[in-house]
Amino acid sequence: MRGIKTPWIVVLALIVSTTISARAGAAKKDVRVGDSIGNLTFKDIHYLPRSLDDFSNKKAFVLAFTTTSCPVVQRYLPVLKQLEKEYRGKGVQFLAINDGPDDTILELAAQAVRFEMEFPFVKDFDGGCVRALGVQRTPEVAVLDGRRMLRYRGRIDDQYRLGGTRESAGHHDLKDALDAILAGKEVPTRETPVDGCLITASEARTPKTNVTFAENIAPILRERCQGCHRPDTSAPFSLITYKQVAAKADAIAEVVAEGRMPPWYASEEAGHFINRRTLSAEERDTLVDWVRAGKPLGDETKLPRTPLETKADGKWLIGKPDLILSAPKDDLPASGDIPYKYVPLPYTKGLSMPYVFTEDTWMQGIQILPDNPRTVHHCNMLYMIPGEKAKKTNFITGTVPGGSPMILENQVGFLIPKGAILILQIHYVSTGKPEKCQINVGFRYARGVVEKRLRHALMDDNSFAIPPGAPAHPVGSSRVLDCDAVGIALFVHMHVRGRDMTFRAHYPDGKSETLLVVPNYSFDWQIPYIWEPGKKRFPKGTKLEVVAHYDNSRFNPYNPDPNKTVKEGPQTRDEMLNGFFFYTDANEKLELQIDPKTGRVRTEKKG
Ligand code: HEC
Repeated sequence: MRGIKTPWIVVLALIVSTTISARAGAAKKDVRVGDSIGNLTFKDIHYLPRSLDDFSNKKAFVLAFTTTSCPVVQRYLPVLKQLEKEYRGKGVQFLAINDGPDDTILELAAQAVRFEMEFPFVKDFDGGCVRALGVQRTPEVAVLDGRRMLRYRGRIDDQYRLGGTRESAGHHDLKDALDAILAGKEVPTRETPVDGCLITASEARTPKTNVTFAENIAPILRERCQGCHRPDTSAPFSLITYKQVAAKADAIAEVVAEGRMPPWYASEEAGHFINRRTLSAEERDTLVDWVRAGKPLGDETKLPRTPLETKADGKWLIGKPDLILSAPKDDLPASGDIPYKYVPLPYTKGLSMPYVFTEDTWMQGIQILPDNPRTVHHCNMLYMIPGEKAKKTNFITGTVPGGSPMILENQVGFLIPKGAILILQIHYVSTGKPEKCQINVGFRYARGVVEKRLRHALMDDNSFAIPPGAPAHPVGSSRVLDCDAVGIALFVHMHVRGRDMTFRAHYPDGKSETLLVVPNYSFDWQIPYIWEPGKKRFPKGTKLEVVAHYDNSRFNPYNPDPNKTVKEGPQTRDEMLNGFFFYTDANEKLELQIDPKTGRVRTEKKG
């Protein structure tokens, strides 16, 4: 430093600022406001590949870039929510595009639920949207007009900044841009700076080397995948041998990187469930790196030696059943969607005589067992008293891939009341060839003494009407517990417009707790969320509440008809709100002596 003396701190500041702006400038220069942007692709909350083409006839798109952790994003979500409401009717489509490298689809969907957002949240897995629009920070917005020309890029307004907040916004840049586009005018300020969080490219990780099938991959698959991906289950293929796994390697890398497999639909933010099924980040990276490294087999002698635990479907896990009732054998088509079947048990062709429980009958184990599990996606069972109106509270149990049957703890019984008949709701799937399937249901009567009845509280609603096109219509319901309860599990049932459901408990002492958030409900994965036995207690007077949202928009890929007002009903084109809370009464002491040959009460001791 001869001649002009420059303090070194200034030099350092100059170097830093030029490096940053050089980086920023490069991306911005590539894509200019005024450029025509083609289609953009991303994954929706159902893990499906979607694009801007899935929205019809929009006058403008607001693409807001987000992560689940950037504090400025959190501050702006309510602003975006308001703006979207204001502009939805004017033909503007809002979309939140997540670019957080660690954010899973489950957690970005949970963020949308937490902020009660009504427009779609999607995932930009490969950073393609960021590059196509030249954005760099969250919550940056890019506004496209109806011909998909980039017309505005930058901040939403100037109220919230990284270090602080102004009382109100002085510039409403996004709003001004939208008003100009809708009025067919030039956008006044086409570009503004954003000082939110810098977007980090997803590929920052150094891949692991020396990952082999024998030592690293086989143990993960055994633990996390083979519970379903083995012969005689409803999973479409086995993932046991090297050959089987290598043949599916790219698909495996994709489904684990995206968090689609293993299937699990409860956000981490609430609840601790013993049947939780997810990969650690470490396991996920190991699988992905192995596929990238060319699927090395490694030293075969190091393969796990213990034989695969076959607590397989195809077997009675409840013990030897005391009673088996069978649905008729169904002939299933090779392809196409198979409508839901509702069948009474057992059903004899020509006779259609259902089995009637002539006395109150106490069960300890109930298992729904298809003889061809590959064809059954899920199956629910409920009871009905002929002549009485069918009640949804009569739900008994269901089965989903990888699920487990109802096996109750000692001294807890499930009561099938006198006069009941049983109905199955079966969701078959086609497999590519014609198939046959018969569903058998095994019952194991209670043994010894039954002290407690398995109960459930149903939060439901029969009076809702979901308007045509509504993207997130809320429906809720609540129940107050009339006893001290020991919680067993939660279960969500909606149809194909169900987007999310949240369970909350409001305790008598005024405190509240979120029990479960299912932010991206899947009709195909109706999983029970099971607590550790005896651990979750609820005092009498606790108010249980569910809130669900329904997506009746065109963007919902499963929506049979976005132009319809949708009401409660049994068919999948109708909707349902069913939040089940399974529990026992903490103070119940029934002292029922059960005859193990019939499941009926032998003597009733008076207390
Ligand atoms: C609870 C049961 C279950 C578990 C556990 C499970 N799968 Fe699956 N998997 C299924 C079913 C059922 C399907 C069929 C598609 C569907 O219904 O979503 C499937 C589909 C797949 C597919 C094909 C998806 C596609 O469309 O490309 C892949 C690949 C896959 N699983 C890999 C895995 C891997 C790897 C694991 C472990 C990390 C795993 N699965 C764990 C049940 C399971």
